[in-house]
Amino acid sequence: MKILIMLIVAYLIGSIPSGVIIGKLFFQTDIRLAGSGNIGTTNTYRVLGPTAGTIVMAMDILKGTIAALQPTLLFHMANRYTLLIGLAAILGHTFSIYIGFKGGKAVATSAGILLAYNWEFFLIASVIMFILVYTTSMVSVASMTAFPIVTLIAIFYYQDWLLSVVALVLTCFIFYRHRSNIARIKNGTESLVHFGIGWRR
Ligand code: G3P
Repeated sequence: MKILIMLIVAYLIGSIPSGVIIGKLFFQTDIRLAGSGNIGTTNTYRVLGPTAGTIVMAMDILKGTIAALQPTLLFHMANRYTLLIGLAAILGHTFSIYIGFKGGKAVATSAGILLAYNWEFFLIASVIMFILVYTTSMVSVASMTAFPIVTLIAIFYYQDWLLSVVALVLTCFIFYRHRSNIARIKNGTESLVHFGIGWRR
């Protein structure tokens, strides 16, 4: 019963649409109607600027972490439950009950549950992601490259079967959620980020 309640709470926490809230509250902008239309960090940064983008990234990571920490913080359950409960937060983020079961692309919230499970793994993943964003100038390409790499790290370095399976599932899900980005990459219209300069087509 408590697992079911934690799954529901995780889903509801994950559903909080940070990008929509920050956009409407501070910029009178519905992020869903601007840029790529995505509610995540990248589009918030693109449309509303670095401060808003950073706040949304922090909120999206944090909601994954808080949701996933329920089993260990509230019930002192084994760390493996962190990942399982965290998956419900990712479903919430991507199919949010508050915005008509639509949502983001799962990158930051997935990072949040990895942080709850193993902070060292989260740090490694974050460094890889940062390097990839910097070198490719495309957050979508960086995301779709970083997750397979961290899956390999989970398999071969950590040799943690649960983390490996979850990382593999997240990788597949992230590719699925980036279908529109893949189409834009193919036809050369995916937007680029340039540090210090901003976005350009
Ligand atoms: O993986 C990055 C993802 O957030 C891409 O967002 O707005 O470029 O579709 P966007």
